[in-house]
Amino acid sequence: MSYLLRQIKAKTIALISLAAIICVTAIACGGGSSEQAVGIPPEMVADYVHTTLAADRTAYTQHVVNRAKKLEGKEKDKGVLEIEATEGWENTDGIPLPAQMFRLGSEIATDYATEAGLTFSYNLISPWNINDSQAPKNEFEKKAMDAVIETGKPYKDYQQVGDQTYFSALYPDKAVAEACVTCHNTHPIHLERYPDKVFKMDDVMGGVMINLPIEKT
Ligand code: HEC
Repeated sequence: MSYLLRQIKAKTIALISLAAIICVTAIACGGGSSEQAVGIPPEMVADYVHTTLAADRTAYTQHVVNRAKKLEGKEKDKGVLEIEATEGWENTDGIPLPAQMFRLGSEIATDYATEAGLTFSYNLISPWNINDSQAPKNEFEKKAMDAVIETGKPYKDYQQVGDQTYFSALYPDKAVAEACVTCHNTHPIHLERYPDKVFKMDDVMGGVMINLPIEKT
């Protein structure tokens, strides 16, 4: 387990370093005689960060969770390890579900960013959230979530939180596997809170929110 956490730490450091390099590049290039700040547009930075996060989540699902013999109490065809991927992993001998692994990484990333003086953050949100901390938090997130559910496409815009301006992007998180649908539709919290919401394959189930702090102009 601590090996996995170390892996997330290493990846998070890499991600923050990437963000730092982009900032430095933007400052270095913007400081010349040109009036215009030259750098990588925030849309593109958000796309890079999202690609990294999505790739890590898929790699963890395919190469770790899929090797476990059990997923939330059910036997799996291709499992080879006597281990269970389960929401209650902390109190059992199990390993976290992909969404939980994602949140663990996001919490560590927030700590690292804070240490580095950055307000960079990312997280999974959904209006049909199982975990309370993953509900859309403010008007921007609610509007972005509605747009993503309607179009199935990313939503990107600037938002102001206190004194800080962010470029924020919400990417759709879709039901790409039957397991997404069955696990969520049958989860006790889902059944209690959203009895009428029955996910189908390819539905938008939520989104990945990425907040990039932007220098005020
Ligand atoms: C075996 C059960 C299971 C499977 C399979 C599963 N999830 Fe989840 N999912 C959960 C649980 C439990 C949470 C809450 C985890 C936490 O505490 O952060 C969650 C969280 C989420 C969230 C954040 C909102 C929330 O509900 O708190 C999204 C979005 C999400 N899952 C989408 C997906 C998608 C897309 C897939 C398939 C690629 C998937 N899930 C597969 C159980 C599952």
